[in-house]
Amino acid sequence: MCGIFGYIGEDDALNTCILGLEQLEYRGYDSTGIAGIFDGNLQICKETGKLANLKQRLTFKTLQIAIGHTRWATHGKVTTANAHPHNDSQRTIALVHNGIIENWEELRDQLKKEGFVFVTETDTEVITQLVSKNYKGSLVDAVQTALPFLKGQFAIALIHKDHPDQIVASARNCPLSIGFNDTQTESIISSDLHAFLGKPLNVIFLRDDEVAKVERGKVSVFDKNLARIAKKLDKLDRDFKSPSKEGYEHFMLKEIYEQPTTIQKAYFGRVNDGCVLFEDLVLDLSATKNVWFIGCGTSAHAAAIGGNFFEEIAEIPAQVEIASEARYRMIPPGTLVVAMSQSGETADVLSAVREIKAKGHKILGICNVKNSTLTREVDACIFLNAGPEISVCSTKAFTSQITVLYLLALHLAKKGDFDALQLIPQHIQQVLENALWIEEKAKHYSRYQNFFFMGRRYMYPTCLEAALKLKEISYVNAVGYLGGEIKHGPIALIDENCPVLAFLANSQTESKMMGNLQEVKARGAPILAFAPKHLSSISTIADDVIWLPDTIDPLSPFASTVAGQLFAYFMAKTRKCDIDQPRNLAKSVTVE
Ligand code: F6R
Repeated sequence: MCGIFGYIGEDDALNTCILGLEQLEYRGYDSTGIAGIFDGNLQICKETGKLANLKQRLTFKTLQIAIGHTRWATHGKVTTANAHPHNDSQRTIALVHNGIIENWEELRDQLKKEGFVFVTETDTEVITQLVSKNYKGSLVDAVQTALPFLKGQFAIALIHKDHPDQIVASARNCPLSIGFNDTQTESIISSDLHAFLGKPLNVIFLRDDEVAKVERGKVSVFDKNLARIAKKLDKLDRDFKSPSKEGYEHFMLKEIYEQPTTIQKAYFGRVNDGCVLFEDLVLDLSATKNVWFIGCGTSAHAAAIGGNFFEEIAEIPAQVEIASEARYRMIPPGTLVVAMSQSGETADVLSAVREIKAKGHKILGICNVKNSTLTREVDACIFLNAGPEISVCSTKAFTSQITVLYLLALHLAKKGDFDALQLIPQHIQQVLENALWIEEKAKHYSRYQNFFFMGRRYMYPTCLEAALKLKEISYVNAVGYLGGEIKHGPIALIDENCPVLAFLANSQTESKMMGNLQEVKARGAPILAFAPKHLSSISTIADDVIWLPDTIDPLSPFASTVAGQLFAYFMAKTRKCDIDQPRNLAKSVTVE
């Protein structure tokens, strides 16, 4: 979480930093801050809330160099004091940080004993003071001396008032990239390639405990012995388009409506004569005996659907593990591990990948963001090709993930129904055309505070995903449950104030779900069903129905998911929530 940006070059550093932070705001929006140097003075301005607040309160108009930060709070409340950049007691150094320093209290107590004064509740201030303590004229040396004392993960960028010609940066288990141009006129530091503003830059990625001295169009990287390291250069030459809502009220709505296209992009060019082939798939998967999927949140829900594909279509046993728990599990030798992440920057996924790789397993990544950390750490990667997902709430990435997983199962099975997949964009279009009806239902149900989402088989991860959407953008309690499990306890919570949203598009479990719905109906629950067209009998049980196109069971999650996304969107809109940037969340979760 948290976005870091730094600029040194011929453009005004303040303006460029604001442009960079605009691109990074989706990584955290509890507070924003910018520090820079002008005329030998260190200037810092920070504010709680979004970048717009900071822009209104800026206390300076121009800067020679600048570092900026968008915060997702970990240590310390959302206050101006706790916002980054942080400075040392002498106000000579300013520093921005992403990550967590695990031994910050111990270090702070020690530094306090030595006379350092702390004015924030953050772990970050400890790094600033520690660097200040070790500063003897070289900022690079001071940072490298401080690093061994830090436990945890971090990406940092810092400036010193006596060095208006450099920004120093370092990272451990946290993404940080540095770009510089061929004409040696400018350099950018960013936690996210997305914020490189479309400039054609040479890019390097910092590895653990490397320290970089960043000057105009020039970067020198040092190891822990302060020896120069030759870094591999990647050329960044991307078509940069500032994300636009293209007339939609929110990015989330735009991304929901993109899905007929993004699904096609996920399978386009990958199926030939009924045969599935992935470009650049350098791993030979033909001998795969069993698979473990790892992921978090929405990506874990996609993985759960993928697990069913593997077992049903490819007859390969599959296990799904939440990434933050994967390290505690015993993965059988010879298992193919598939790491799922839209952003490719989720700390829980990256840590699991590192630990699993160290145990000798091959890892296949499925990712949306090219050049992200995950794509550089796995043995091979399949891309979603869904384009940037800006809304914090993930929508189009999910349907692209399940498209790719379906193809992967067909690839391993060397058989399967590709024709049915080609109909899915049309099915989604039909759901989108029903948006007004879904909006009406969302308005009706927006008065409730507690919901159960129910499904079986393919509809179980689908209902978990729909419940997650509702929770995160509408701030209501929505619990996804297996249809067969409700009677084993949670039914105690059911009454007329607790609607059940029933996902029925999995025909194999239809009759069992109908029985489960009778159980909750008997206890007074209002029922909203997401049902396939052929299931007309549902009208006698459910109070309301959102009708979905019929398809085969493995592909049933698509239309149901899009209907669930629209329902959550309209609920959030009715409840006047901040849809694209829900409270307490950030797009990339880069802390464990
Ligand atoms: C939910 C959501 C999160 C992410 C999760 C993993 O809408 O966006 O649950 O799915 O943080 O993110 P990635 O896929 O980037 O690893």
